[in-house]
Amino acid sequence: ADPKQVRHFLRDDDLTPEEQAQVLDLADAMKKDRFGYRPFAGPRTVAVLFDKPSTRTRVSFAVGVGELGGLPLVIDAGSSQMGRGEPIEDTARVLERQVAAIVWRTSGQERVEAMASISSVPVVNALTDEFHPCQILADLQTIREHKGMLKGLTLAYLGDGANNMAHSYLLGGATAGMHVRIGAPAGYLPDAVILDRAAEIAAATGGSVTAVSDPAAAAAGAHVLATDTWVSMGQDGKEERVAAFTPYRLDADLLAQASPDAIVLHCLPAYRGLEITGEVIDGPQSVVWDQAENRLHAQKALLHWLAVRSGQASGAPEA
Ligand code: CP
Ligand code: NVA
Repeated sequence: ADPKQVRHFLRDDDLTPEEQAQVLDLADAMKKDRFGYRPFAGPRTVAVLFDKPSTRTRVSFAVGVGELGGLPLVIDAGSSQMGRGEPIEDTARVLERQVAAIVWRTSGQERVEAMASISSVPVVNALTDEFHPCQILADLQTIREHKGMLKGLTLAYLGDGANNMAHSYLLGGATAGMHVRIGAPAGYLPDAVILDRAAEIAAATGGSVTAVSDPAAAAAGAHVLATDTWVSMGQDGKEERVAAFTPYRLDADLLAQASPDAIVLHCLPAYRGLEITGEVIDGPQSVVWDQAENRLHAQKALLHWLAVRSGQASGAPEA
């Protein structure tokens, strides 16, 4: 394939609103017909690289590639030469001649960008310090399943407003035409450049984005409440973080501020008693297990869509 034609998914705004809707529609179709789509039949191989730990992302990509007729090749940094400092570009040149796509969880966003800048096969961000866009596709699929729509709904995210999940909710939620509110303390508010970019997207989709420090104001009337760990992979200073984020704990009182039929999301892993109480995550408004399952369907749809858009597969389901 011509590298210029190849589509990558490195951040949520790599998909236009129309494209995001196409991927979500495909995810719903694939969830109903789980073994009916086989763009990687052959089998073609997808490299799934991890520089950080993972349960959901590892399992859902490995299972998903298999269900798409392909072969998942899961590699941890500690067992690859990249983990010993082999350049990203050299790794890309080796992989692109053998695999159909490269999925990568790593630290800095610039690392997935470097891989994509020279890769002739799609590169997918499976979480960086800055973004977690595959998770947001699954979250949007989950919200649509439970609420029947996305556009015009309010999603409030409480906690670390400067982490990958907050940034991806801003970009991905704005792309979907949602009203995204981040409730976070001073010092942990979203990156201003990302907030501006999300506002620009929202202006075109009819959504909106705001960042506030009052947790109750953030949650007020929301249709979706979301939170995430207070200490992301690679971060230290747990004690200060717990002190700063405690007012943002997603507990029954905060949930009571939201719309009475609000749903609760958490990308997992969850730390009960810190960012969310057991009562809320294990309660009737929580949809976290649907959310975790939808990683599979949303990522299968994304991989299929990228393969078609990059000229590597046909658009029709293949038996
Ligand atoms: N939510 C998520 O990405 O989970 P893992 O870290 O287990 O992959
Ligand atoms: N913000 C979390 C998400 C884990 C899936 C982290 O980066 O550790």
